[in-house]
Amino acid sequence: MQRKLKKIGVLTSGGDAPGMNACIRAIVRCAIYYGLDVTGIRRGYSGLINNEFQKFTKRSVANIIQRGGTILETSRCNEMFTVGGRKKAIDALKSEGIQACIVIGGDGSFHAADLMDEESDLEFIGVPATIDNDIWGTDYAIGFNTAVNTALDAIDRIRDTASAFERIFFVEVMGRKSGFIALEVGLAGGAEEIIIPEKKTEMEDLCRNLQESFKRGKRSSIIVVAEGNTVEDTINIAKYVEMRLKVECRVCTLGHIQRGGSPTAIDRILASKLGIAAVEGLMNGKAGHAVGEIKGEIVYTPFKSTWENKKGIDEQYLRFLPMLSS
Ligand code: F6P
Repeated sequence: MQRKLKKIGVLTSGGDAPGMNACIRAIVRCAIYYGLDVTGIRRGYSGLINNEFQKFTKRSVANIIQRGGTILETSRCNEMFTVGGRKKAIDALKSEGIQACIVIGGDGSFHAADLMDEESDLEFIGVPATIDNDIWGTDYAIGFNTAVNTALDAIDRIRDTASAFERIFFVEVMGRKSGFIALEVGLAGGAEEIIIPEKKTEMEDLCRNLQESFKRGKRSSIIVVAEGNTVEDTINIAKYVEMRLKVECRVCTLGHIQRGGSPTAIDRILASKLGIAAVEGLMNGKAGHAVGEIKGEIVYTPFKSTWENKKGIDEQYLRFLPMLSS
């Protein structure tokens, strides 16, 4: 950027994630610390297109670090994937005098930001926030840790009733097309099986493993199923197992419970670090990138890489599970 940076915007986009507020707070306070003006853009890209702006002061972000959701609200805006939609967004930013914009969200939101970065003289930087944790360029996205802990709490409770009734429970967790939540929750919750999109699961293998565990004396089981698994709908998996093994099965879909609630300390700290890194990145020529943290270090990954690459799961987890669930 040739001009001196004076005014930045910030918006949250896509699925909300616990810690987004902590990130907004860090961005606003850090920007003001460096003498910048900060404007909040309401309702993600939809709000941007409709000129929904709010001026932020240090006090506007008081008392939000502990709150889930996003005070800016969010949206999924397909119009941003049209040239016309992006032109409206760019014009709105310019008319508000915003020179650079921080986008807190996932890879789809970064994709739109990258296109605007190319199509205008404005600057954009991304902060990864999604409970799915499926963003290339960071070990963890904001919100993932809280979602895992929320789901884990539910699984611990389900285990009590599963063992009281000697049932098999299929617990469906979120994660869109990825199994990060399912893997962490499965390992931490002592699940007998995990069904995720990244690993092929055969129904017959699943039944055989369960049967063997009954022979070893197990009377109840928890099977964590990622919503994006490629085997079957969770209800159908449970029906099949019930019919094949003649055991009582129940399904519990955790759903949006996993997206809400107060962020964990880990998410608040990550959100604060990445928020500051985004402001400092804009001041230091890192526009066109998403910030992230890899092995404890702040990194800046070109936007393009964040959606062109697919983040892989930690294969070790798959090796650990059969050892631990025996
Ligand atoms: O991307 C976050 C996420 O919660 C996914 O895990 C889930 O598949 C999706 O959003 C649900 O989206 P919506 O709230 O729009 O139904």
